[in-house]
Amino acid sequence: MTTPAWQYDEMTQIGTDYASEDEVRQYDERMGRFRDRAADADAIMEAIGLDHDHIVMEIGCGTAEFAIHASERCERVIAIDISPVMLEYARTKAAARGRANIDFIHAGFLGYKHAGAPLDAIVTELALHHLPDFWKLVALHRVAGMMRSDGMLYLKDVVFSLNLEKYEKTLTYAVEDLRKAAGDDTARNFERHIRQEYSTYDWIMEEMLYRAGFDIIDAAYGDHCLATYLCRKGERR
Ligand SMILES: C[S@@+](CC[C@H](N)C(=O)[O-])C[C@H]1O[C@@H](n2cnc3c(N)ncnc32)[C@H](O)[C@@H]1O
Repeated sequence: MTTPAWQYDEMTQIGTDYASEDEVRQYDERMGRFRDRAADADAIMEAIGLDHDHIVMEIGCGTAEFAIHASERCERVIAIDISPVMLEYARTKAAARGRANIDFIHAGFLGYKHAGAPLDAIVTELALHHLPDFWKLVALHRVAGMMRSDGMLYLKDVVFSLNLEKYEKTLTYAVEDLRKAAGDDTARNFERHIRQEYSTYDWIMEEMLYRAGFDIIDAAYGDHCLATYLCRKGERR
């Protein structure tokens, strides 16, 4: 079937495009400086109840820190990303860490076609904001369609939970806090994110999750700009 002319082109990156191995390595180092990747992965695996016989997918796996940690605890990880450079870096890192049960696939939220048993859990961190809102809901609907009923979704992203009367102050503080925690590069990336990428509001994200058929078990908002949702697949609404 040919792709309709109205289909969103998710393969063209918006905002920061990690197009070289050097940029990807720098991204990985930056993230390692202010995120405790092992502790974060442990917390996610605990939240989604990851079991040794589970198959879990990570969407927008980037440098694959979660995928690698999860692969040590479950049967198989499917790690997808639209960036061939990210995927190559992730493949090399996973091999260096002796992981052979991760399938790295060049695909995105809108194009990945799942074959095989329905997934036990899906994890996606800092990736959904690459899609405009219409396509976010299409993506979440597709995500639900790949999972078993009662399957778990862990979604973390930049989502705005701010008071619009004070949005300028809130965003300025958030950028400066990030500068202190992670340096100028990360602060500049976040400024570009706010300017160009498609992060949405908390109430829109919650409604989208609900409409895609997820029950939100827990929603946590940090610094008015970051959100994590732990969801269980329920009924389609
Ligand atoms: C900011 S990075 C986050 C990477 C990783 N999840 C993390 O937490 O460090 C965003 C990733 O999402 C990927 N991405 C962008 N659009 C995507 C899409 N439509 N489907 C899947 N991945 C996408 C990018 O290539 C990039 O690797």
